[in-house]
Amino acid sequence: MKNIQQQEQDLLGKIALVTGGTKGIGKAITARLIAAGATVIVTARNAPEETTLPYHFIVADLSKTEEVNQLAQEINEKFGGVDILVNNMGANTFPGGGHSTLSDEHWDQALQINLLSSVRLDRALLPGMLEQKSGVIIHISTSSSQFPIWESTMAYSAAKSALNSYSKSLSDEVAPQGVRVVTVSPGLNKTEAMSSFLDNLAQKAGITMEEMTQGLFNRVGGVPMGRMAAPEETAELVYFLVSPKASYITGANYIIDGGNFPVVK
Ligand SMILES: NC(=O)c1ccc[n+]([C@@H]2O[C@H](COP(=O)([O-])OP(=O)(O)OC[C@H]3O[C@@H](n4cnc5c(N)ncnc54)[C@H](OP(=O)(O)O)[C@@H]3O)[C@@H](O)[C@H]2O)c1
Repeated sequence: MKNIQQQEQDLLGKIALVTGGTKGIGKAITARLIAAGATVIVTARNAPEETTLPYHFIVADLSKTEEVNQLAQEINEKFGGVDILVNNMGANTFPGGGHSTLSDEHWDQALQINLLSSVRLDRALLPGMLEQKSGVIIHISTSSSQFPIWESTMAYSAAKSALNSYSKSLSDEVAPQGVRVVTVSPGLNKTEAMSSFLDNLAQKAGITMEEMTQGLFNRVGGVPMGRMAAPEETAELVYFLVSPKASYITGANYIIDGGNFPVVK
């Protein structure tokens, strides 16, 4: 991969919002868009620890309607809207164990975090894109939206499947007005959260991290490349999709999973 000085600056002059851009895949996307010259706004519930940041940070809990609206208002006032919206924030923080462990509250949270936060943010920021007749919206989904694992991702996968469907609908609606909408479905990414999740499970099961990781690969049907993605690899795809290089791409769902998906799509 080229170093930052050698990166093509094809996002110069573009304003991008990356939700959940302080950690994991969102952090890598943020770094990649900055390297391509974009002015990036990042939002999360907690401010990062660093005192000087290469991006604008706005605190918001996107599971709350009023905080989504406040965020959009602040962005519209300070930046006059965005050209690129990466709806990256999402989470599977719900108990495993299948249907009987999931309460109405869990289902409601799964939908708020993984579907409705994006729906609300798109609705608030789309008018500016439609007015300028250009813009790109990315929805970060998951390969498990098409390949759910009942004992650990039931509500999360269902909410992300709804996100895929919504993303396709929205792309059809706004494509004639110059706005592209694309879904990206990552497989397993080696983020800090993923490492501590696996470490926890390995300790409980009394096995090594490597054995735990292999067990997870086996449960998802095997990963032909034999490793997780580095978040930077997922970020590279997102960068390509928001760049002018992807000018004819809309309405698609890109799976990036090291070959894990077991069927021809
Ligand atoms: N990691 C994987 O293997 C994987 C695989 C497939 C799909 N994905 C998808 O990729 C996306 C990123 O996942 P990740 O694993 O990189 O996440 P992560 O490392 O857990 O980071 C999540 C980010 O979102 C922020 N966030 C969490 N809840 C929030 C809320 N309610 N409001 C605002 N910000 C919030 C976090 O900051 P604060 O905690 O400070 O709010 C953080 O910046 C998600 O949509 C996930 O479903 C991940």
